[in-house]
Amino acid sequence: MFTPEEKEAVYKVIYTRRDVRTFRSDPIPDDTVMNLLSAAHHAPSVGFMQPWNFVLVTSDEVKQRLAWAADKERRALAIHYEGERQDQFLELKIQGIKQAPLTVCITCDPTRGGSHVLGRNSIPETDMLSVACAIQNLWLAACAEGLAAGWVSFYKKNDVRDILEIPPHIDPIALISIGYTDQYPDKPILESTGWEKRRTMDDLIYHEKWGQS
Ligand SMILES: Cc1cc2nc3c(=O)[nH]c(=O)nc-3n(C[C@H](O)[C@H](O)[C@H](O)COP(=O)(O)O)c2cc1C
Repeated sequence: MFTPEEKEAVYKVIYTRRDVRTFRSDPIPDDTVMNLLSAAHHAPSVGFMQPWNFVLVTSDEVKQRLAWAADKERRALAIHYEGERQDQFLELKIQGIKQAPLTVCITCDPTRGGSHVLGRNSIPETDMLSVACAIQNLWLAACAEGLAAGWVSFYKKNDVRDILEIPPHIDPIALISIGYTDQYPDKPILESTGWEKRRTMDDLIYHEKWGQS
C-alpha cells in the first residue's frame, strides 16, 4: 500500500513534529491552511460524529485577548509550584499566540449527531478524544508543510468562549498557534529546559496483565 519512502516519511513527520512557541510573522498561504484543516477533518471520530469546528484567528486584537487569557492562567497556575520549580515554571514560554500569524481554536460540540452517537454512550469523553485526533492530524500536517505549531491549553474555557463568542455548550478544546519558525527544536522544549524527560518505553509496556513486564 505504501512505498518504503512513503512509510519512512510518515515516521519522519511523527518523530520530527514538535510543540513550538516561537514564530516568524510571515503569513501562511490560504491553500496551506486549508490543507491543515482538511487533514484535521479527516481524523477518526467516535460514531463518525466529527464534533469539531475551527475558529481561525489572525487579527492582532483577538490574538492579544487570547494571549491575555493564557497569560492570566499561567500566572494563576504558578501557585502549584514552590521555590526553584516555581521560578523554572514562570520562565517557561507556554504560548506564542501574539507572534504566530494564525491561531486556530478547535472546539468540540457534544450535541453533534444527537444524543445517541454510535459508540459514545459508554464513554462520553470520546467526543473530546476525537477532537484530539483531529488536532494531532493538523499538527503532523503542519510539520509536513514546514510549519511549526504549538498547543495552548492554559486558559479558562469561559475566557476563550467570551473572546471568540463561542456558545456555552461548545467546548474550546485547544488553541493551536501556527506559523513558520527559525527555531524548530529537535527535542521537546520541556526536555531541553530540564523540566521533564522522555520515559523509557520498557517501563510502559506490560504483557498479559498490568505491571508484568
Ligand atoms: C493536551 C495538550 C496540551 C498542551 N498544552 C500546552 C500549553 O498550554 N502550553 C505549551 O507550551 N505546551 C502545551 N502542550 C505541548 C506539550 O508541552 C508538548 O507536547 C510536550 O512537552 C512534548 O513536546 P513535543 O510536542 O515537542 O514532543 C500541550 C500538549 C498537549 C498534548
